[in-house]
Amino acid sequence: MKQFNIALIPGDGIGSEVVAEGVKVLKAIEKADSNIAFSFTEFPWGCEYYLKYGKMMDEDGIDQLKNYDAIYLGAVGYPGVPDHISLRDLLIKIRKEFDQYVNLRPVTLLNPTLTPLKSKAERDIDFLVIRENSEGEYAGAGDWLYKGKPEEVVLQTGVFSRKGTERIIRYAYEEARKLKKTLTSVSKGNALNYSMVFWDEVFEEIGKEYPDVKTYSYLVDAASLYFVAEPERFEIVVTSNLFGDILTDIGAAITGGMGLATGANINPEKEFPSMFEPVHGSAPDIAGEGKANPIAAIWSVSQMLDFFGEEAWGKAILSTIRELLMDTKALTPDMGGKGSTKDVGDIFIELLFA
Ligand SMILES: NC(=O)c1ccc[n+]([C@@H]2O[C@H](COP(=O)([O-])OP(=O)(O)OC[C@H]3O[C@@H](n4cnc5c(N)ncnc54)[C@H](O)[C@@H]3O)[C@@H](O)[C@H]2O)c1
Repeated sequence: MKQFNIALIPGDGIGSEVVAEGVKVLKAIEKADSNIAFSFTEFPWGCEYYLKYGKMMDEDGIDQLKNYDAIYLGAVGYPGVPDHISLRDLLIKIRKEFDQYVNLRPVTLLNPTLTPLKSKAERDIDFLVIRENSEGEYAGAGDWLYKGKPEEVVLQTGVFSRKGTERIIRYAYEEARKLKKTLTSVSKGNALNYSMVFWDEVFEEIGKEYPDVKTYSYLVDAASLYFVAEPERFEIVVTSNLFGDILTDIGAAITGGMGLATGANINPEKEFPSMFEPVHGSAPDIAGEGKANPIAAIWSVSQMLDFFGEEAWGKAILSTIRELLMDTKALTPDMGGKGSTKDVGDIFIELLFA
């Protein structure tokens, strides 16, 4: 019997609504598979917690989380708390403290009717973005000088260490080799004359160890164009923190929207827990209305099970999502349906065991 202890951080807005459906799926799997057991511990951290206690999580929050096998997070951020506080003091803090330096964001079209790109089908949009998740443009380095004065200056420094750049690029080469896929690096060496020139050099250097992997290197502006016009160019993409964040929203747009986009924050060495979350935010405009699409959160469960080595369940979830997407009438309003968050979770479980 394999026991997996999961820390739940539902967070804000629709976060708790979608996490509830993901947990429902995990509990159903536990019931069906006598070899797996899950335990869940919920942490009440987020913006409401901040408004009550003046902090996004407990001071020893990282310590409290460190022995779990995984963290399952809904979303953080809500009107009333500045976004840079909610994001940095909870989500980015966990990613950093637990050295979750790999962010895996699949861009996979599961049904041709879901893409706004005419003439593109499932075979054209099926790739994985590997985003650097621990430093780069999101390192939080900088200064705010002469605040409010005419000579005011703001500095936001990108931090690209050799260790940080090499390890993410090496991870991507390894994935490309293992899956026998091409690898595309996305950077911006023509304008960012230190960080991205360095990134390009490291990509080339490490590439010498992987002569079997076919590579491409694009500037981020060209890559944005290709994401929309020729997504079939991509199989595995490796890029920096900021570029990966933005490009994967394009990825979400071409595969059915934010309700379907998932992301795993991985500490590959398993020294610390990894974190699984839908890419979307707390959606204050629909929070509490039962309209949130839980599919991205359920897809995160598939990524979590893959990470646990339970790939058969990971695959089963993904193929059930594919099946679920065949009849959008039963889905949530963002997919053109009339179903509620809970209805979609229930139908999903029915299909998973059908
Ligand atoms: N990972 C995270 O926790 C994360 C990510 C992005 C934004 N945020 C935070 O969330 C808050 C709202 O941000 P935003 O409005 O820019 O982005 P958002 O992703 O919350 O919402 C953008 C749009 O997509 C819709 N949407 C998002 N998820 C959906 C779902 N599952 N089902 C149906 N519709 C969905 C929303 O209704 C909204 O119209 C902010 O405080 C922001 O900082 C958090």
